[in-house]
Amino acid sequence: MATKKNLQADRTSVAHKVRYALSNPTRIAPYVKRAARDTWLRHKHPDHVGYYRAVMASDTGRNPEAAVGSQTHDRWLALGKMQFDYLVGHGLTPGHRMLDIGCGNLRAGWRFIEHLDAGHYYGIDISPDILIAAKETLTRQGLQPKLPHLTITQDLTLDFLPDHHFDVVHAHSVFSHSPIEIIDECLAHVERVLTPGGWFDFTFDRTEGAEHQVLREDFYYRTQTLVDLAARHGLTARFMDDWELLGHGQSKIRVSAC
Ligand SMILES: C[S@@+](CC[C@H](N)C(=O)[O-])C[C@H]1O[C@@H](n2cnc3c(N)ncnc32)[C@H](O)[C@@H]1O
Repeated sequence: MATKKNLQADRTSVAHKVRYALSNPTRIAPYVKRAARDTWLRHKHPDHVGYYRAVMASDTGRNPEAAVGSQTHDRWLALGKMQFDYLVGHGLTPGHRMLDIGCGNLRAGWRFIEHLDAGHYYGIDISPDILIAAKETLTRQGLQPKLPHLTITQDLTLDFLPDHHFDVVHAHSVFSHSPIEIIDECLAHVERVLTPGGWFDFTFDRTEGAEHQVLREDFYYRTQTLVDLAARHGLTARFMDDWELLGHGQSKIRVSAC
């Protein structure tokens, strides 16, 4: 099921909200409930990571697959496969070492773990609740012999990881939930952990209009903003046109050191 991108919408405008509510009346009540919950969580956790961790705890408690963005198990499988097929199509081999930032409950991660040599997958996430769900996925898939690393993190300085270790760094649907400071932090540090010739793929919610955010859960950026940010850290960023063909709601950028 392809998702059509709405690249001009400003989801914060009253006109957009009214139009959306009129065409999706059944979504009004859940949205109001979510907005109320998020207001309370933002009050309790003024910092973004603390806030988003609380969002994930609440969502994961209800349904871990929905918490990472898949409303049905079939969609969870399909979205994981899409990420996996894309990277394998771009040359991910079993011998590569991979860092999966915001690995969630291993929607794609279990496929990467299966594909890669033992110990070559390293997943990090800010949410202890989703990492517990990740271990359940790992167990269900019988992937214990692959001995993946699954680690909680508070920030994206990547300071606990070794120099030039990962051939591929990956962040799917993570920067779509991140304010620019977090993306900046990640781009400032990612080169140190990448092997020469390695690359960092991330998805983002793209807008061609005004950059905006909704409930501090979903952040919309212009491509050039992220390309320029990467350049400020000496990185080359490339918009991945072939990802657009897959019909995913987000866009993808590949960053490399050269
Ligand atoms: C929409 S889910 C996607 C999970 C996984 N990448 C996938 O595609 O199935 C976003 C994940 O990113 C994590 N996350 C959000 N902000 C993060 C950050 N700053 N650092 C690490 N993980 C983060 C969330 O806890 C959540 O598990």
